[in-house]
Amino acid sequence: MAQDLRSFLKQIEKSCPTQLLRVQEPVDPLFEATALVLEAEKLASCPAVLFEQVQGSDFPVISNLLAHRPRLALALGVSQERLIEEFRLRLKSSIPPVIRGDAPFQDNIFLGDQVDLGRLPMLVHFEQDGGPYLTAALVVARDPHSGIRTVGYHRMQLKGPRKMGISLHSRRRMYEYFRRAEEQNRPLEVAICLGVHPILSLGALSLPPADVDKFDLVGSVLGEPVELAPCQTVALEAPRWSEIVIEGRILNGVREKEGPFSEFTGYASERSTENVFEATALLYRNEALFQDINSGNSMEHCRCLSLPREVEFTNVLSKSIPNLKAVHVPVRSGIGSFHCYVSLRKTAEGQAKQAIFSVLGADHYVKLVVAVDEDVDVFDEEQVLWAIATRMQANRDVFIMGECMGTLLDPSASDDAVTAKMGIDATKPLGRFPTTLTVNQKAVERARELLNSRAELVKT
Ligand SMILES: Cc1cc2nc3c(=O)[nH]c(=O)nc-3n(C[C@H](O)[C@H](O)[C@H](O)COP(=O)(O)O)c2cc1C
Repeated sequence: MAQDLRSFLKQIEKSCPTQLLRVQEPVDPLFEATALVLEAEKLASCPAVLFEQVQGSDFPVISNLLAHRPRLALALGVSQERLIEEFRLRLKSSIPPVIRGDAPFQDNIFLGDQVDLGRLPMLVHFEQDGGPYLTAALVVARDPHSGIRTVGYHRMQLKGPRKMGISLHSRRRMYEYFRRAEEQNRPLEVAICLGVHPILSLGALSLPPADVDKFDLVGSVLGEPVELAPCQTVALEAPRWSEIVIEGRILNGVREKEGPFSEFTGYASERSTENVFEATALLYRNEALFQDINSGNSMEHCRCLSLPREVEFTNVLSKSIPNLKAVHVPVRSGIGSFHCYVSLRKTAEGQAKQAIFSVLGADHYVKLVVAVDEDVDVFDEEQVLWAIATRMQANRDVFIMGECMGTLLDPSASDDAVTAKMGIDATKPLGRFPTTLTVNQKAVERARELLNSRAELVKT
């Protein structure tokens, strides 16, 4: 399949044109582009937005690409309903990448002092942001111990022609790879890729075990080897169809203030690991597209966090809960990562608790897990709250654990990111419990018929 962003944009324009909004008028990278995307995400089609003219730069900008579930389903070639199952299925295999010598991103090459990152149309998203940011920076690195590769998103603040601040706060692989490099008194070489097919984004955001090369996983989500091409100044390869590649290193022994940044929590975050990146090369395709992921608690930012978690939690739960029904990590109220609702057909007392602890243990971001019975739709938060209202007793069904590892970005966690976690068992006890009300189906059909014949009622 075509592994580039441009082909996917063409696919959207062909199969669902309302999902791509082209903005031909000039827009200011300071606030204007973000405000437009935040308005566009309220439209039913939640379109990807292509800004053709961003003031002060020659590069067009694509944003909001990853915000919409149906668009991600299109990328995987399935219906929205099959998205999670298809993603899970594909993650079961492992397809190593292939390395090709040449790449479109080698069309334009700038080395050393020729690099000027200020030419890229980095947006200033919110009024509280400390400056222009790369938000769709897919950062590639190798484990200094094993050589296994990782690739993940990391915010980067423009600080000079060759310098950016970077925060490794999610404390997963990149954080650990850098820690290992620094322990050896070495910088960590990285390649930053901008403008990729959504499948590469989904693969990079999945949560594999530490001994799995992330590009093997990206290949499995693609259904074929991901094509890589060698970098010029670092011993790494970058996805061959990236629009833009920035090479360089995260410096050991150097820390500098970074931020504030508009985080997915909906707050300006001052918390950062305060690392410093120095660029050694800038490469891009002819007519390169610059990708932005809308920041703050935007639909795009939170969707990117939610979807891989729904996949991961379903995988974890399906190991011990044979009668799992559904998993929802709400994008809005739970900012795509702090809350999780699980429904199951309970067959043993304690099973809901088993589900709650499995999810809480699977990810340090999640703070609240609510378990409900199978008759409750976890995608309808009113129903989840109804289950809590009528099936839960706080002294019996609420579990709180303090002093857990949380995320640094949670403004309510301690400065060293220690948090409390809560589970709520809102399932009915097995055995005696009042029967849930049902409405006679024939009577419902008759009622609908009657109401449909009263056009003036339907309209109001
Ligand atoms: C848009 C976006 C921005 C992100 N920014 C950061 C970041 O600045 N720092 C960070 O540590 N994690 C960030 N994350 C989370 C990581 O990308 C994610 O946890 C990834 O799986 C980490 O990969 P790793 O295991 O290679 O570290 C971001 C995620 C998204 C979706």
